[in-house]
Amino acid sequence: MAQQSYRIAVIAGDGIGPEVIPVGVDILKRAAQQEGFALDFVDLPWGCEFYLKTGKMMDDNWVETLKGFDAIYLGAIGAPSVPDYISAGQLLLPLRQLLVQYVNLRPMRLMPGIKSPLGGRTAADIDMICVRENSEGEYCGVGGRIHVGTDLEMAEQTGIFTKKGIERVARFGFELARKRPRKLLASATKSNALRHSMTLWDEVVDEVRKDYPDVEFKKYYVDALAARMITHPQTVDVMITSNLFGDILTDIGSAISGSLGVGPSGNINPERTFPSMFEPLHGSAPDIAGKGIANPIGTVWAGAMMLEFLGQAGTGARIVKAIEQVLTDGAVKTADLGGKASTKEMGAAIVAALG
Ligand code: NAD
Ligand code: IPM
Ligand code: MN
Repeated sequence: MAQQSYRIAVIAGDGIGPEVIPVGVDILKRAAQQEGFALDFVDLPWGCEFYLKTGKMMDDNWVETLKGFDAIYLGAIGAPSVPDYISAGQLLLPLRQLLVQYVNLRPMRLMPGIKSPLGGRTAADIDMICVRENSEGEYCGVGGRIHVGTDLEMAEQTGIFTKKGIERVARFGFELARKRPRKLLASATKSNALRHSMTLWDEVVDEVRKDYPDVEFKKYYVDALAARMITHPQTVDVMITSNLFGDILTDIGSAISGSLGVGPSGNINPERTFPSMFEPLHGSAPDIAGKGIANPIGTVWAGAMMLEFLGQAGTGARIVKAIEQVLTDGAVKTADLGGKASTKEMGAAIVAALG
């Protein structure tokens, strides 16, 4: 039995975050109401403005606070007034790591009605999903700088890859591939150059794939996979990647799907020991912040993913259908998709399509 009500922590954050999040919240609330369940959204004021006032990106007891919620809905984090390694390193990455959201799920799909920058491609050609390792790897934070400001200055940035970390994300990827019609899985590696971390990656993936003989497996060097996403996107289905590789490949995937403003991102704790977090794939977009023109689709789609994860898949699917209907009609499009609609007008069109 699905729950009757859910508590959702909202971190609208910075830049266009506070512009796109209200659109998402409004649509999710309406859709839930239509289906007879409730969403209780609680705003948390964390982000760069909070940092400028308090010296911290979040309250000290943030883990305790977030533990009390069913999920987290996040806009974007990062502002020109705060160094990005602070805003990401003291909010975004600790959430993903300490809330054990070790899978970052990022669908990249050309929706009907959107023109891909890849000429001649249709919705049938671009339908991929990235299962990105989200808790370790290149983002583990290990390293340091010494002799700062001298000629001997040195920086070290270490990647930590664990058997367990690779195994759990690979297994998630194979399970997902098994459920998709094409049952195809690509592993992004770089074991030709990264002969410690990525050879372990390959070995663990090879072990896991023995349990999934029904899934067609391909190993690609990440540079070749990046090229393939552009030249033969129709040959890519599920991909499993390290943290950094997945970050880069998913911006490519979202861009070829029409815009960075379209893609959603689910930071998933599969065992549900802590709440999972749902956000658009894009950042705070300081270049367009405050203009009211950001595309809210990535945020709305992320909200639909959140409902699916919470056990309300039907409502999530209805929201995605409403987005597709608006795009197919074509009258309302934001500037990144070649239109003139504002963030709010796009939101209103999706609300209307929801019925
Ligand atoms: P970005 O994704 O914010 O912007 C890249 C480009 O895409 C910009 O030209 C922007 O205008 C455009 N764009 C992004 N989202 C859009 C939308 N919804 N509608 C229309 N156009 C959109 O990436 P960036 O410029 O590299 O980073 C800006 C800031 O965001 C930095 O502080 C960065 O650290 C942060 N960031 C945060 C997250 C996150 O919160 N998860 C993700 C990426 C970047
Ligand atoms: C993303 C962002 C983050 C990442 C940054 C802000 C640390 O680019 O969510 O894709 O690299 O994961
Ligand atoms: Mn990114």
